[in-house]
Amino acid sequence: MRVLHIDSSMRKERSVSRMLSQFLVDRVSGAHEITIDRLDLTENPPPHITQGFQNALRTKESDRTAEQIELLAESSSLIKRIKNCELMVIGVPMYNFSIPSALKTFIDHIVIFGQTFTSDENGDSGLLSGVKAIVINSRGGKYTKEEGTAHFDFVVPYLTSILEYIGITVLTCIKAEPTQYYGPEAKEMAVEKAKKEIIHTVAHLRFKSAAS
Ligand SMILES: Cc1cc2nc3c(=O)[nH]c(=O)nc-3n(C[C@H](O)[C@H](O)[C@H](O)COP(=O)(O)O)c2cc1C
Repeated sequence: MRVLHIDSSMRKERSVSRMLSQFLVDRVSGAHEITIDRLDLTENPPPHITQGFQNALRTKESDRTAEQIELLAESSSLIKRIKNCELMVIGVPMYNFSIPSALKTFIDHIVIFGQTFTSDENGDSGLLSGVKAIVINSRGGKYTKEEGTAHFDFVVPYLTSILEYIGITVLTCIKAEPTQYYGPEAKEMAVEKAKKEIIHTVAHLRFKSAAS
């Protein structure tokens, strides 16, 4: 099974999302034969999309200049990497109630008409139906109905919607919360709970090409 392992936290050493996404990949690797494609969006952030990028996309493929082909190279490469995997694991911290800008830019590069979604008189449909995703989201606070803060969470609803829009099946979004604002004990409990959810999720993973 081919796994695309993505991280987007600016922290390296003490990052909860990185630690948990690695924990998940290690568990998957313990249960299945896998190859890992690693994408660290903070080490290799895609460039912001531009008017030139949009113009290149709208130009017929055979008419594109060398400069336009170069402008689309990152997008083509990222889409290829996604199409080539069966499972995407995305580690994502909450920044200002939303996702890190490098992850948003990554999304701007992969949500492309004709390549990852299409549209006709029946509406829009995603083209990446062979790909599944698991999202691991770390957040300093708590975002629940009980706390009255659920509506501040623009990470899980957004990522689920946009990934499903391009046809990816989001198996689950595992939330590690609160990692910061409620003290070290609460953080430890949040991490343990997330690990249990990861173990449960991996135990129920089924893949066409899985060796086990
Ligand atoms: C720039 C920045 C913005 C943040 N904004 C929020 C926020 O809006 N809500 C929240 O609960 N935590 C927020 N946090 C805390 C992080 O979500 C938390 O520390 C999380 O564990 C970060 O993920 P990481 O451990 O993988 O780096 C913010 C942290 C940073 C650095």
